[in-house]
Amino acid sequence: MRIILMGPPGAGKGTQAKRLVDQFGVVHLSSGDIFRAEKASGSELGKTLAQYMDAGKLVPDDVVVSVMASAVTKNSSGPGLLLDGFPRTVPQAESLDKQLAAAGKPLDGVMVIAASDQLIVDRITGRRSCPKCGAVYHVTNIPPKKAGICDVCGTALVHRTDDTEATVRQRLNAYKQQTEPVIAYYRTRPNVRIIEVDGNRATDEVTKALAAGMQSLAGR
Ligand code: AP5
Ligand code: MG
Repeated sequence: MRIILMGPPGAGKGTQAKRLVDQFGVVHLSSGDIFRAEKASGSELGKTLAQYMDAGKLVPDDVVVSVMASAVTKNSSGPGLLLDGFPRTVPQAESLDKQLAAAGKPLDGVMVIAASDQLIVDRITGRRSCPKCGAVYHVTNIPPKKAGICDVCGTALVHRTDDTEATVRQRLNAYKQQTEPVIAYYRTRPNVRIIEVDGNRATDEVTKALAAGMQSLAGR
C-alpha cells in the first residue's frame, strides 16, 4: 500500500502518521523529518536545506527528488509507504510516479487533511517536538506529562526554528500556490483515489477518519 498524506502545515500529518504506522504497519517517510536530520548533521546539504526551511520556502525540486528518491527506494520493499510532506509540487509528483511505476508499485491514494488557517497558526506556534524520537506535542492541545520533556524518551523538547507566526504564513502560501496543484494533478489520474478528511476535529476523530480511509484503500 502506497499512500500520500497531504495537508497544510499543522494539519496533523506527522501526528496522524505516527498513529497510522502502528495500526497498519506501514513505513512513515516524512520529507521534513529527513531534512531536519540532515540539517542537524551539519552537512553541506543540511546547510542548503536550512536556507529554505528556516525561511518557510520550499526546497528546490532537484534537491528534494534526489534525497526522497533514495529514501523511497530503501523502504519500498516493505508492506507499505505512508509519505508525509512529499511530493509537494507537480514536478515532484511526476518524478515519484515514474519511480513507483518503474518499481511496479504504483500509488494507491492520497489522503488530504484540511485545517483552517487560524487553527494552523495556533497549532504551529504551540508545537513542541522531540529532537531524539520525533514525538510531537502541543503546549495546550496535546501537552507532555511533564512540561518541556518528551513522554517517550525523556529528552528536552524543542520549538522548531520554522514554527514562528511569520514563517507559518509563508509556508501556508507555499502550500496554496505550489502544493494544492498536486491534488488537482492526482484528480486526473484514474487509478489514484483521493480521500479528504476534516482535520479541524479532535486528534482521535481525525485518526478514525484516516484509518477508515486506509482500510478502504487497502481493500480496493
Ligand atoms: P514539514 O516538516 O513537512 O512541515 P509542514 O508540511 O509545514 O508540516 P508540519 O510538520 O509543520 O505539520 P504537520 O501537518 O506534520 O502537523 P503536526 O502533526 O506536527 O516541512 C518543513 C519544511 O521542509 C518545509 O517548509 C520546506 O521548507 C521543507 N520541505 C519538506 N518537504 C519538502 C518538499 N517535498 N518539497 C520542498 N520542500 C520541502 O501537528 C502540528 C501541531 O498541532 C502539533 O503541536 C500537534 O500536537 C497539534 N495537533 C495535531 N493534530 C491536532 C488536532 N487534531 N487537534 C489539536 N492539535 C493537534
Ligand atoms: Mg510534520
